[in-house]
Amino acid sequence: MRTSAATSVGPYTWSSQQIPDLAGRTAVVTGASSSLGLQVTQTLAEHGATVVMAVRNTDKGEAARQRLTGLGIGPNQLQVLRLDLMDLSSVRLLAQQLSDQLPALDLLIANGGISSQPHQLSAQGLESQVATNHVGHFALTGLLLGLLEAGHDPRVVTVASALYRRARLDGWCLSPRGAASAS
Ligand SMILES: NC(=O)c1ccc[n+]([C@@H]2O[C@H](COP(=O)([O-])OP(=O)(O)OC[C@H]3O[C@@H](n4cnc5c(N)ncnc54)[C@H](OP(=O)(O)O)[C@@H]3O)[C@@H](O)[C@H]2O)c1
Repeated sequence: MRTSAATSVGPYTWSSQQIPDLAGRTAVVTGASSSLGLQVTQTLAEHGATVVMAVRNTDKGEAARQRLTGLGIGPNQLQVLRLDLMDLSSVRLLAQQLSDQLPALDLLIANGGISSQPHQLSAQGLESQVATNHVGHFALTGLLLGLLEAGHDPRVVTVASALYRRARLDGWCLSPRGAASAS
């Protein structure tokens, strides 16, 4: 798997019309029940991919899936599975479900995320934004590496905000329950 990072954008010369035929490819999109994740799911499916919609609220995910099938996307192209990025046991369960049912994975879109939240801790005691936007996806990616390595030209796309440039990383937010020092 190649790695690359897009650190700047524009001028915007790319459009989704340049996406090749994705028939036979399988993608996982986190946070697929709304906004950007839903749009990405729709676009990938319209190009032929099968998409696992990894969502924290499966009712909302199912409603989103039905909206997409109403637009003409094949019902067999979309599957809704639960993922709560704020709980590593949910991350592990999703990875296990995917490993049990898929021979390979071609695309992981790590899209789900939160920002500007009141202070809250994840199931494992990490600050919620660190847990959701970073640790959850880091763990999911690691657990899916075997499937990705079996994929066709596999890619992991991490969606993030450039606002990280304005952040100051305090070690406490990487320590469970915020108890440890910044070392
Ligand atoms: N929109 C922007 O201007 C912008 C700018 C820079 C970066 N981004 C990044 O783009 C990505 C998508 O942004 P967006 O604007 O589409 O955000 P959004 O409308 O808030 O949607 C975020 C998605 O993440 C899901 N999510 C939140 N917490 C989760 C958890 N614990 N486990 C699983 N899924 C969870 C949400 O699920 P629910 O549907 O259940 O709420 C929702 O589907 C994010 O990573 C964000 O940081 C967005």
